[in-house]
Amino acid sequence: MKKSIAVCPGSFDPVTVGHTDVISRACSLFDQVVVLVSSNPNKTALFSADERVQLLKTALKGYDNLKVEYFDGLLADYTKKIGATAIVKGLRAMSDFEYEFQMALTNKRLNPATETVFLTTKAENMYLSSSMVKQVASMGGDISPFVPPVILKAVTDRINKTVKNRKEEEK
Ligand code: PNS
Repeated sequence: MKKSIAVCPGSFDPVTVGHTDVISRACSLFDQVVVLVSSNPNKTALFSADERVQLLKTALKGYDNLKVEYFDGLLADYTKKIGATAIVKGLRAMSDFEYEFQMALTNKRLNPATETVFLTTKAENMYLSSSMVKQVASMGGDISPFVPPVILKAVTDRINKTVKNRKEEEK
């Protein structure tokens, strides 16, 4: 029988516990899962694509049906290339809906063979986002509840360094 392949795309800048929860659930629903670091032209990233791939690999060790990749192109082209069954996205508050709906419909138009599947986020992750993590950390807040413990130091160090550099530039 044909293997079901899911792609979990995102900026993952950085990966949060909201992401890892959705990805682990995708791993139990599909034969193979590709966590895809993708380019979002609307965002400036704190971590390079390679760094994000490394952070994801560290945070997601132990799943034998999962791999992490980077693709600098249209998601629909990638899903077509690998014959993906589904694009899996986490859905948080209603505010996500319009943006996610638009992407799902566009991806369906570009590659009708791949369905977008939404998994509802856990209630405690409802308002969690990478942007929120960066904002909390940059103001000295504790981000340990929001990112996987194994990457906490890497993320905190980078955000602190960026804030420090920014402050020095402003002097
Ligand atoms: O985590 P994000 O930033 O909300 O993820 C958005 C992402 C990266 C999945 C989206 O921007 C994307 O699919 N980028 C790849 C380029 C592409 O296919 N753009 C058209 C999307 S309809």
